[in-house]
Amino acid sequence: MQALPGFRDFLPDDCAARNYIFTQWRNVSRRYGFAEYDGPLLEELDLFVRKSGAEIVKQLYDFTDKGGRAVALRPEMTPTLARMVAASHRDFRKPIKWFSIPQMFRYERPQKGRLREHYQYNCDIIGEASPDADVELIAVCIDILRAFGLTADDVVVRISDREFWADFLRAQNVAEDRWQQVLEVIDKSEREAREKTAERLGDLAEAVFRILEEGGRSEKLDRIVDGLRQRGLADFVKVDLRIVRGLAYYTGVVFEAFDRAGKLRAIAGGGRYDNLIHQLSAGSASLPALGFAMGDVVLGELIRENAAASAKMKATMARDQQLDVYVVIAKEERRGHAVAQVQELRDRGYRVDYPLTEAKVGKQFQTAEHLNAEVAVLYGDEWPQVKVKRLATRDEQLVPHEELLARLVASSTLSSRAERSGVEGSRGSSER
Ligand code: HAM
Repeated sequence: MQALPGFRDFLPDDCAARNYIFTQWRNVSRRYGFAEYDGPLLEELDLFVRKSGAEIVKQLYDFTDKGGRAVALRPEMTPTLARMVAASHRDFRKPIKWFSIPQMFRYERPQKGRLREHYQYNCDIIGEASPDADVELIAVCIDILRAFGLTADDVVVRISDREFWADFLRAQNVAEDRWQQVLEVIDKSEREAREKTAERLGDLAEAVFRILEEGGRSEKLDRIVDGLRQRGLADFVKVDLRIVRGLAYYTGVVFEAFDRAGKLRAIAGGGRYDNLIHQLSAGSASLPALGFAMGDVVLGELIRENAAASAKMKATMARDQQLDVYVVIAKEERRGHAVAQVQELRDRGYRVDYPLTEAKVGKQFQTAEHLNAEVAVLYGDEWPQVKVKRLATRDEQLVPHEELLARLVASSTLSSRAERSGVEGSRGSSER
């Protein structure tokens, strides 16, 4: 039996890579003052049917539950967030700045960059209409990419404005009920043959192509780029009116992040959705809103393909997975003392492992190497002294067992590791 197509098993190394991504997402969010939230994995089908737009609705995992309700696994977070905010916004100071790392489910054709489940960092600002909020949000997106070691040579955020297209369609006397269809054609125009796009745009084709090729003016977008320039982030952005986003609820500035080489699908995407909360609250809450989401799949591919970013990830993962101490039990009659020491070290926040059953000393050292332990401590014939061996240098010392803790604490790498873990010694901290 295998995992279903488009679903992943996360073996420990995959989990470590996932945690690395989650940690950067969380760290940057907190630097910007965002608070973490979550919602239910399963929602009423109707929430997505009404709010997500045709493309996502086709991809829903939906079924009827045992209570006869039509439900769906979440394909995106924005409708859930809007529902939560519509119900509870009075309890929160505005602007609401929230982030989340939900797992999403979309029945897509599995391919490079697209699976049937993915983790998706979501970051949203609710209750702020100023373009400064758009600047702040795009800056979060860029700073997250920077946190992975990616530069303006590796990634670009293409920004656009749906209002620009709304003004255009109004000027062309296009009926409002056709707007969404035109926007979807523009959204796909980059990936589709020009003739096909022209055919679907009909009488609008010439005017649309002129804008796509020559660009158009937007004071709002100029202001946003200026805001990012003030922060030294302008190299990461490009105004590009081809970006309109596939989802129906966007109303204003929209953006998508891509790898510069153009080899991968979008890394992230988002924008303003100023009417969604109003619609979901049946008019009782009217709050401008904006946000974006970044999936772990394309981002993971980009990190693996980028030398600096993958080196950074591997170094962090190796550090996070490293064991501090492996206790080698050479004489079974020392097991009681050894285990007491293991407990004491773990209480102090060290990462410690030891053999659960009797094993040859050579095999225990191999395990210590395999677990990338910094130090092995051997309990054997030397008792009441123990042998402390630094595995990297092979340097060995005999230490009276009652001094072991103080010696390890005095060792700079090990003491800083325990401090970082934030665990206070439960039996006093005089040695630290
Ligand atoms: P989205 O563009 O549909 O936006 O998805 C955002 C990101 O999620 C994509 O750029 C991509 O990295 C990732 N993603 C989407 N589908 C898949 C898939 N099948 N497999 C792997 N990765 C995928 C939204 O979902 C909006 N709700 C974002 C948003 C938040 N807008 C405002 N706030």
